[in-house]
This record gives sequence, structure tokens and C-alpha cells, in this order.
Amino acid sequence: MNRRTAVSALALALAASGIAFVALAQPPAAPPAAPPTKPTTTTTAPAIPGYTFGSPDLARSPITLADLDALERSLLLTDDDLAALRQSKAILADQTDAILDVWYGFVGSTPELLAFFGNATTGKPEGEYLARVRARFARWILDTADANFDQKWLDYQHEIALRHHRTKKNRTDNAPSVPIVNYRYIPALTIPITTTLKPFLASKGATPEQVEKMHAAWVKAVLLQAILWGQPYVRDGEF
Ligand code: HEM
Repeated sequence: MNRRTAVSALALALAASGIAFVALAQPPAAPPAAPPTKPTTTTTAPAIPGYTFGSPDLARSPITLADLDALERSLLLTDDDLAALRQSKAILADQTDAILDVWYGFVGSTPELLAFFGNATTGKPEGEYLARVRARFARWILDTADANFDQKWLDYQHEIALRHHRTKKNRTDNAPSVPIVNYRYIPALTIPITTTLKPFLASKGATPEQVEKMHAAWVKAVLLQAILWGQPYVRDGEF
């Protein structure tokens, strides 16, 4: 089954479960001349424009590691979940493109969501913006599966929060788009993101029980981040 057939099969499965899906036209390739950025990761992966995980220039998260720990306990996110996330990494690593076809398909078929990638004047989707964010989103799948929820990770969560909020939206990609992703949609997206992930978790021979565990861990990990990303949207002292 080639990728497009696989995606179509998944689209049918999703349609059956009531999740809307359209295949977005393949986004244009990322612009050739990325602005020079300092190497910021310790990996040897090619630089992804705007991906600054681990950069010393990142602001420190206003959320402490103790706050994070309490939040993880409140979500019943345990060491077993961290192990399940790590198990999912090998399964998902070569499927990120197909996963993003589905996630972008969902956003593309939901006008209220696609609007956040739209041109601030014309409302038309900004293809280059979508493509650049997509590359970082692929990396985010692997970072979430790594489940090293340490200070560096927390600081990058703060950066991602600011990039959804009006503080920093559009800045990374110099995108002429609308100024903010309204917060209410962020936790909502936990459900389509993790529901559509399940067939990918199940596609490499894990037992149904392992798939359930990995899926449950992903739900908690995505919700954890959706909560952390709420911080800039909440009045001082009320987060
Ligand atoms: C659980 C929910 C969500 C997840 C996991 C998620 C994930 C991500 C990731 C990984 C990035 C790139 C971060 C980086 O720069 O490294 C990103 C950026 C972005 N996301 Fe989300 N997102 C969520 C909710 C939403 C929603 C509801 C929208 C509305 C359509 C949205 C729109 C955007 C936009 C416009 C950007 C680019 C922001 C910028 O200008 O830098 N996201 N998201």
C-alpha cells in the first residue's frame, strides 16, 4: 500500500469514526534560503528553520519543574506512561509525514482552524507558513515521544506557548498571518491529534494492549502540553 492509498484508507476509517478529513494539497517546499540560525540542538539532524529546542537564547519557563511534576501527577502521568511514549518513538519515527498528512488534513477541512494559518488581510491559507510549521511539528512528534520532560523541554514548551499566543505568533516565520491562535482550540485539538495517532501506533505489530498504553500516554502528554501552552493566555498569578 503506497502512502497515498494508506492515507485514503485512514481517511475512510476516520470518516467512519466521524472525524472530518480532506487531503490538503501538498504544501510548497520550504523556502530555499532559511535565515541563518545558530545550531541549537545537540543532534546531527539537519537544522529545521525556527526550531530552537535547547537554545541558550530561550527564555526560562515561568513554570517550575516542581509545578510540572505536580501537573504530571494530577494527570496520572506515570513512569509507565513515559516508557510507553518512548516505545512509541520507534513506531512513529518513519511515519511522521503520513501522520502530518492526516493532521493537516483535519485542520485544512476545518475552516475555523485553517483561519489561524490564513493571511491577515485576505484570509487565504499561507502555504509557506503551513509548510514551515509542519517541519517543526514533525520534530515535535519525536520530542514528545522522547518524553524527557526536563528544564530544556519546559523552556521550549514556553516558547511554543508564546508562538501560539500574540506575544510571538508569526515571528519565527515572518508570516503575514492573524495575530493569535485562540486558546479554546488548543486543548480541543488533543482529541483529534491523539485519536488519529492510534492507527499509526497500531501499524507496526504492537499488541492491542501496548497500543492502548501508548495511546493513553499520548493523550496525557498532549494534554499536558496544551495546558502548559495556556500560561500566556491566563492572567498573572492565575495559571
Ligand atoms: C494539542 C494541540 C496542538 C498541538 C500539539 C500543536 C502543535 C504545534 C507545534 C509543534 C507547533 C510548532 C512549534 C515550533 O515552532 O516548534 C505549532 C505551531 C503552530 N500551531 Fe499549533 N498545536 C496545537 C494547537 C493548535 C491549534 C488549535 C491551532 C489553530 C489552528 C494551531 C495553530 C498553530 C500555528 C498557527 C502555529 C505557528 C505559530 C507560529 O507563528 O510560530 N495549533 N503547533
